[in-house]
Amino acid sequence: MTKQTNTHSASQIQAQPPLLEVKALKKYFPIQRGFFKRVVGHVKAVDGVDFYVNEGETMGLVGESGCGKTTTGRCILKAIAPSSGEIWFQDPNLGRIDVSTLEHEQLIHVRRNMRMIFQDPYASLNPRMTLLEIVGAPLRAMNLASGKELEDRVAEMLRRVGLRPEYMRRYPHAFSGGQRQRIGLARALAPQPKFLVCDEPVSALDVSVQAQILNLLQELQEEMGLTYLFVAHDLSVVAHISERVAVMYVGKMVEMATTHELFMTPKHPYTEALMSAIPRPDPTPRDKRILLTGEVANPAKPPSGCYFHPRCTYVKDICKTEEPAFDEISPGHFVKCHRAAELNLSGVMNLA
Ligand SMILES: Nc1ncnc2c1ncn2[C@@H]1O[C@H](COP(=O)(O)OP(=O)(O)OP(=O)(O)O)[C@@H](O)[C@H]1O
Ligand SMILES: [Mg+2]
Repeated sequence: MTKQTNTHSASQIQAQPPLLEVKALKKYFPIQRGFFKRVVGHVKAVDGVDFYVNEGETMGLVGESGCGKTTTGRCILKAIAPSSGEIWFQDPNLGRIDVSTLEHEQLIHVRRNMRMIFQDPYASLNPRMTLLEIVGAPLRAMNLASGKELEDRVAEMLRRVGLRPEYMRRYPHAFSGGQRQRIGLARALAPQPKFLVCDEPVSALDVSVQAQILNLLQELQEEMGLTYLFVAHDLSVVAHISERVAVMYVGKMVEMATTHELFMTPKHPYTEALMSAIPRPDPTPRDKRILLTGEVANPAKPPSGCYFHPRCTYVKDICKTEEPAFDEISPGHFVKCHRAAELNLSGVMNLA
């Protein structure tokens, strides 16, 4: 399961234009009250997020529940319309395009190449549809296949995700959680996309099944030349499958680096705290264990300055009043912390 962490230099990483580049992405949900549904405020679910994903890599997107990971993923595919920002995607047919500006017709073309798999393999499959209908739906909707050809392609896709093609007349209820996640994967991959948003695809599964699905994702990535944005709420899952990791806190990106660098030398106190919470099998005592105290900030009423300051062990006065920038402190390593240069934070020395 373990993937070699990326040891390329950042200049190598940036030599090719990224497959996906997200700039200043925002998604505010209105909070409505009363009979006339007056807007009384906004949930700032995604609040000015910048990141990129290189072709062929797995980018981990990590943060606590409610920090905006799913909303970010859904905006990228324009499943929901972003409030503002740019989403540049290198589409094999349309070239470099800003997905946020696309209308219905063009979106259908782009969605052939950008797809999503979901956390809950029970809720995400229509119980009244057979596997043939579920996996074949995107092929039919995009006019990519019909009739016998469609059946052949569904059979081939089922085989690729480790399911027997003769299952195609069955309904999802006949399958276990892990098998359902394979069905979801077959549906996402049927149009042979380039880019997949994997939204916590193993969180709802048993630990033993998690490893199988992660292995399958890696095999398919190699076979089909896929690029993943892999969403997870803890760092331990992404450690083994991502070349790079981005960490979100209350709608903002707080750190982004190669997995190796992020784990060895984290630069944001929130990343350090997430890392110290990773369970480890070795019984040797750790230097220190950072407990995240206090509540996650409310995205409808975020704190002033740095959103993390009420929970931060290293807080200073400036953190309470001024929002830090998301700066590139070394090539390819971005961090949003006033004290990034002076703090010496603890990473995980051994990514076993
Ligand atoms: N349709 C919506 N209307 C209003 N608020 C929403 C909507 N969707 C999400 N939110 C809010 O936006 C914030 C971010 O939600 P999101 O689902 O993106 O978080 P997440 O990081 O994926 O969390 P989780 O780890 O629990 O899946 C949350 O405060 C959530 O309540
Ligand atoms: Mg989510």
